[in-house]
Amino acid sequence: MLGLVRHIGLSNVTPKQIAEGRKICEIVCMQNHYNLAHRADDSLIDDLARDGIAYVPFFPLGGFTPLQSSTLSDVAARLGATPMQVALAWLLRRASNILLIPGTSSIAHLDENLAVADTDLPEDILKALDGIAAGEHAG
Ligand SMILES: NC(=O)c1ccc[n+]([C@@H]2O[C@H](COP(=O)([O-])OP(=O)(O)OC[C@H]3O[C@@H](n4cnc5c(N)ncnc54)[C@H](OP(=O)(O)O)[C@@H]3O)[C@@H](O)[C@H]2O)c1
Repeated sequence: MLGLVRHIGLSNVTPKQIAEGRKICEIVCMQNHYNLAHRADDSLIDDLARDGIAYVPFFPLGGFTPLQSSTLSDVAARLGATPMQVALAWLLRRASNILLIPGTSSIAHLDENLAVADTDLPEDILKALDGIAAGEHAG
């Protein structure tokens, strides 16, 4: 393996499994299910950010059950963005170690997703979006 593997990442792992992996070798990133409505990894993301390990959320837009929420739609209308753009912008703002991998088969969606890098989310909007996982149903 020496000389053939430059970096190692883990996927679908628990904090305990990450800790075990880090005892064996350097782990540079991990990929778990995480988005506006699915936030089981909240504290893990903060821990990894402190240690400089990238977190790559899969299903950032909900995957097979696209994110749907009236709050998300209202915020998007207010910002002149699409709900999916707001969901991605929120992830970018969530933590400095988050890297985005939204899947798309559409060039138009790819362009929309790239434009998210320039989307600013004011504090009141961030607070409203945080409420989605707390109570409101979203996919
Ligand atoms: N490690 C793991 O176990 C694991 C598990 C699942 C997924 N993944 C990886 O995670 C990445 C993302 O997963 P995913 O693609 O399944 O889920 P996703 O990114 O949450 O959602 C993709 C869906 O969102 C739609 N979409 C993308 N951009 C959009 C936009 N701007 N507006 C409206 N709809 C939009 C796509 O439809 P269109 O094609 O119409 O744009 C597609 O149906 C992939 O690389 C996947 O391989 C990893």
